Amino acid sequence: MKIAVLGTGKVGTALGTRLAAAGHHVVHGSRTRAGERGILTQREAVASSDVVVTAIPGTDVLSTLEDIGDDVLDAKIVLDPSAAFTPQMTMAYPGDSVGQQIQTRFPRARVVKTLNTMNFTVMVDPLASVPQATAFVSGDDAQAKTVVTGLLADLGWPHDSVLDLGGINTALATEHAAPLFFATVRSLGTATFNISISRHPSGQPR
Ligand SMILES: NC(=O)c1ccc[n+]([C@@H]2O[C@H](COP(=O)([O-])OP(=O)(O)OC[C@H]3O[C@@H](n4cnc5c(N)ncnc54)[C@H](OP(=O)(O)O)[C@@H]3O)[C@@H](O)[C@H]2O)c1
Repeated sequence: MKIAVLGTGKVGTALGTRLAAAGHHVVHGSRTRAGERGILTQREAVASSDVVVTAIPGTDVLSTLEDIGDDVLDAKIVLDPSAAFTPQMTMAYPGDSVGQQIQTRFPRARVVKTLNTMNFTVMVDPLASVPQATAFVSGDDAQAKTVVTGLLADLGWPHDSVLDLGGINTALATEHAAPLFFATVRSLGTATFNISISRHPSGQPR
């Protein structure tokens, strides 16, 4: 697939490198580094791709996509791993989510929230968090979720580790797991873990 990764930081580099290694055509879209090898302007990167990865600060996602434009975003799949915090590291949008905001503002884009509940190292190395590993997905478009689940497989996520929570309204739940994530980092002294769901092996309700 043709994938535009917005952002050249930790998440963008990790996802871009792994997806390219899996055979995808990956370009980065950057405010600051366009012209370097494999790096375009944000608008050029999105225009040339089917999937857009928003590996940029959550509080800047909407304004960045506004600058890129509705016309360019039309019908794109937006894989959104972002998290949005205030400078004090509290939730920037209590009771709301970046994923929902993108979908509401760009109704013709197909937003899938995923990978936001873990450290970037685990995003591309889920087996570091075995035996339990969960990648949540939230989105309104079933086909977009199927495509993103395929990309998760390319990142190393087994199919049964992917938990579809439902519509993009459920992105609120995973974005608001951030305080749990940071409290766990402080408690464990490492970010190499995963927030996962444990189920009875039969999968049946008790
Ligand atoms: N780090 C993690 O383990 C982790 C885990 C889960 C979720 N996330 C989320 O994933 C996103 C990326 O995190 P990261 O750790 O990769 O951050 P990062 O290392 O700081 O990189 C973010 C990148 O976004 C771009 N950027 C910076 N300020 C921007 C702005 N004002 N507007 C548009 N683009 C801007 C920059 O790329 P250019 O200069 O090339 O444009 C920068 O390299 C964030 O939303 C973060 O909360 C991170």
